[in-house]
Amino acid sequence: MSFLHLLILSGLFQTIRTAGLTGYQINGGVNSLLGNSFGQPGVEATYDYIVIGGGTAGNAIAARLALDPAGYSVAVIETGSFYELDNSNRTTVAGYDYYSVQAETPPSFVNYNIPTVPQAGYNNRTIDYAQGRTFGGSSALNYMAYHRPTIGSMQMWADAVQDDDWTWDNVLPFYKKSVNFTAPDYTKINPQFDIQYNESVLTPPGGPLQISYGNHMFDYGLALQDGFEKIGIGAINGTNAGNLIGYGPQTGTLNPVGATRDSSKTSFLETAMQNTNIKIYQTTTAKRILFDDNKEATGLVVEMQGIHPTAQYTLSARREIIVSAGAFHSPQLLMVSGIGPRATLEDLNIPLVAESEGVGQNMWDQPWIGLAYKTTYETQTQVILNNPNVTGQAVSEYLANQSGLLAGIGGGESVGWEKLPSRSRASFSNTTLALLSRFPPDWPEIELDPLAYSPVPDNVSSTDHYITLGACLVAPLSRGNMTISSNDTNDRPIINPAWMTHPGDMEVAVQAFKRVREWATASGIATAAAYNPSADVRTDAQIVDWIRENGNLIYHPTSSCAMGPSSDPSAVIDSHARVRGVTGLRVVDASAFPFLPPRASDGDDMLAEKIADYILTGQ
Ligand SMILES: Cc1cc2nc3c(=O)[nH]c(=O)nc-3n(C[C@H](O)[C@H](O)[C@H](O)COP(=O)(O)OP(=O)(O)OC[C@H]3O[C@@H](n4cnc5c(N)ncnc54)[C@H](O)[C@@H]3O)c2cc1C
Ligand SMILES: *[C@@H]1O[C@H](CO)[C@@H](O)[C@H](O)[C@H]1NC(C)=O
Ligand SMILES: *[C@@H]1O[C@H](CO)[C@@H](O)[C@H](O)[C@H]1NC(C)=O
Ligand SMILES: *[C@@H]1O[C@H](CO)[C@@H](O)[C@H](O)[C@H]1NC(C)=O
Ligand SMILES: *[C@@H]1O[C@H](CO)[C@@H](O)[C@H](O)[C@H]1NC(C)=O
Ligand SMILES: *[C@@H]1O[C@H](CO)[C@@H](O)[C@H](O)[C@H]1NC(C)=O
Ligand SMILES: *[C@@H]1O[C@H](CO)[C@@H](O)[C@H](O)[C@H]1NC(C)=O
Ligand SMILES: *[C@@H]1O[C@H](CO)[C@@H](O)[C@H](O)[C@H]1NC(C)=O
Ligand SMILES: *[C@@H]1O[C@H](CO)[C@@H](O)[C@H](O)[C@H]1NC(C)=O
Ligand SMILES: *[C@@H]1O[C@H](CO)[C@@H](O)[C@H](O)[C@H]1NC(C)=O
Ligand SMILES: *[C@@H]1O[C@H](CO)[C@@H](O)[C@H](O)[C@H]1NC(C)=O
Ligand SMILES: *[C@@H]1O[C@H](CO)[C@@H](O)[C@H](O)[C@H]1NC(C)=O
Repeated sequence: MSFLHLLILSGLFQTIRTAGLTGYQINGGVNSLLGNSFGQPGVEATYDYIVIGGGTAGNAIAARLALDPAGYSVAVIETGSFYELDNSNRTTVAGYDYYSVQAETPPSFVNYNIPTVPQAGYNNRTIDYAQGRTFGGSSALNYMAYHRPTIGSMQMWADAVQDDDWTWDNVLPFYKKSVNFTAPDYTKINPQFDIQYNESVLTPPGGPLQISYGNHMFDYGLALQDGFEKIGIGAINGTNAGNLIGYGPQTGTLNPVGATRDSSKTSFLETAMQNTNIKIYQTTTAKRILFDDNKEATGLVVEMQGIHPTAQYTLSARREIIVSAGAFHSPQLLMVSGIGPRATLEDLNIPLVAESEGVGQNMWDQPWIGLAYKTTYETQTQVILNNPNVTGQAVSEYLANQSGLLAGIGGGESVGWEKLPSRSRASFSNTTLALLSRFPPDWPEIELDPLAYSPVPDNVSSTDHYITLGACLVAPLSRGNMTISSNDTNDRPIINPAWMTHPGDMEVAVQAFKRVREWATASGIATAAAYNPSADVRTDAQIVDWIRENGNLIYHPTSSCAMGPSSDPSAVIDSHARVRGVTGLRVVDASAFPFLPPRASDGDDMLAEKIADYILTGQ
């Protein structure tokens, strides 16, 4: 037995333990074999539905198709494997979410870390773009913040795709369908938080995705709430009822029973593995989709990762193929399969199946700036610095009581959204004002959010604490794009988020920066001088320079295979996510959004639920 086999076996046993699945459980006299959940590598097979990408949306739609009483056969193809095998405990423990994006993180099995092209808005810096590469996809890498967009932004979605199925009222049932909400446990969370939320949007309970407020909230959150009130941002009744103008504590995709991350793998995929005949293919990369003479998608070529020489084989679909490879890899897969801008495909000698100029274009993303402060409040700083006095207690408390510093998402205690006040808008150009006025009244321009950690200076002491107060541009005006450099999905897509390249975004960012400072001062959390930027960064010109040198990202790329009406030549898919120009193929993930509403991955769950419903009802 090779080392690789041993590794895979040990991973499976770990999965068995983690998932609560049993390799040989006898249910009513019937053997239930874990191995029956896996496709046989290298053997050609046919399924009713094949989902490409076992990520956030992919696992959700695959589970719904497999769980349907019709008993469809469903396969999920995933490049990565199981994060319990590939990432130790770092994905599972809620409070370790910061590992996903730490600059010093070494090469990872579970993170693509795609370098962007030099970013003109960021002084030509190249930034590594984290993206999940594992069952769970980016839901296995993200900060777990769960909140929904606004009523007005969903109306804009419905208008953009000319289909009223996408209004708030019509998508709310699909948001509810995915999630099972657990109320805060005040034996673990400081009761002073007295969290308010609108229960009607979280009931009746759905599932299998668990959402909760986690089992830990840092006390700085109370000060930050006070700070919001003082700068004129008022409380909202939870972050899931369609109104985001205000502040509130944020729900997260956490299972409070173990204080663990609930990814699309622990929720949707495991539910399907336990209850259906779903077949999953791990360490298996989709290379290209195959079409017949009528341009119907009939199957795909896949490659077994880590096998030398490279082994490829074909899987076939009787009904449909669903592409859920994420905002960068779904457009890549369409292009290498012959669907995309004509010039790109011709340059690379890829036979054209359907010209589609919008593939890889129209990318939305939210630029983000994080201001680092030293604070007297406790944060995760000492956990990250691996101070044994702190981590020892944190780990035992987490394991024994599912509480303490590792039992929450390390941020999100208090997140605020606003349209910038008139004082902040005084310096905006008329063009910027006109562009911003196209967003509906309930669509905020900025999000102010804390992270329980930040970069620290070299002389940090074992009792120091640092915090990041961030601002995110949630009505961004810049648009990015991506393309391919070859016909091979093993090669990295060329990605260009183009953050802060629109001059209006920089105008907003400068004011957002000032709002963060007002918030920091009003809350009183920043006792010492700010760490980065220092108080010396004062004038607008200095702030612009600082942003270009320190601007960052919050990992919400969307719309690179955008949904839209047939009158729009750049719309890659229709409002039922069907790829234009071919049949039997849909795109269901963040790339499918017509634009990025003031939200991200919870939109994926809703989208997956909704498209699964279309498919199962013959739409
Ligand atoms: C670090 C980080 C923090 C974030 N924080 C938050 C947050 O707090 N809240 C929030 O709502 N959103 C957050 N997001 C965004 C959110 O996680 C994503 O929008 C969402 O998970 C994207 O889901 P998806 O289904 O589009 O793609 P993914 O979940 O990324 O899934 C794509 C899957 O396809 C697989 N794949 C790709 N190519 C192939 C191929 N050729 N063959 C086979 N498989 C393939 C990948 O391995 C991956 O598993 C964050 C994202 C990141 C990266
Ligand atoms: C960024 O690169 C472009 C193209 O090479 C160049 O014109 C521009 O001056 C560079 N900007 C900075 C700030 O270095
Ligand atoms: C929902 O969460 C509750 C705990 O709040 C749990 O008892 C129940 O089993 C969960 N239901 C589903 C379907 O996950
Ligand atoms: C929030 O909504 C709930 C209904 O679920 C209601 O009981 C509660 O009073 C509301 N709280 C606030 C502060 O509006
Ligand atoms: C709860 O949310 C629903 C849906 O957005 C809304 O109609 C209702 O007024 C809200 N109730 C409270 C008490 O906030
Ligand atoms: C996670 O794993 C690391 C490395 O094995 C270990 O030091 C740490 O205690 C673990 N954390 C928890 C919460 O179990
Ligand atoms: C777990 O909680 C109990 C009851 O509050 C407490 O006595 C115990 O010290 C906690 N254990 C750890 C390891 O923190
Ligand atoms: C902006 O618009 C206002 C009101 O329409 C007008 O008075 C002003 O001159 C405009 N400013 C510029 C720079 O065009
Ligand atoms: C670290 O250095 C800074 C800048 O020199 C100084 O202001 C601060 O007091 C130092 N902190 C510690 C803990 O020594
Ligand atoms: C841990 O605590 C001990 C005893 O209080 C102290 O001597 C030591 O310096 C502390 N270590 C760190 C890294 O803070
Ligand atoms: C992407 O956009 C940039 C401008 O931000 C442009 O220079 C580049 O040609 C575009 N690339 C593609 C593949 O569309
Ligand atoms: C991909 O491109 C390479 C280099 O141009 C070529 O040798 C290969 O045949 C192409 N593969 C397919 C499947 O078209």
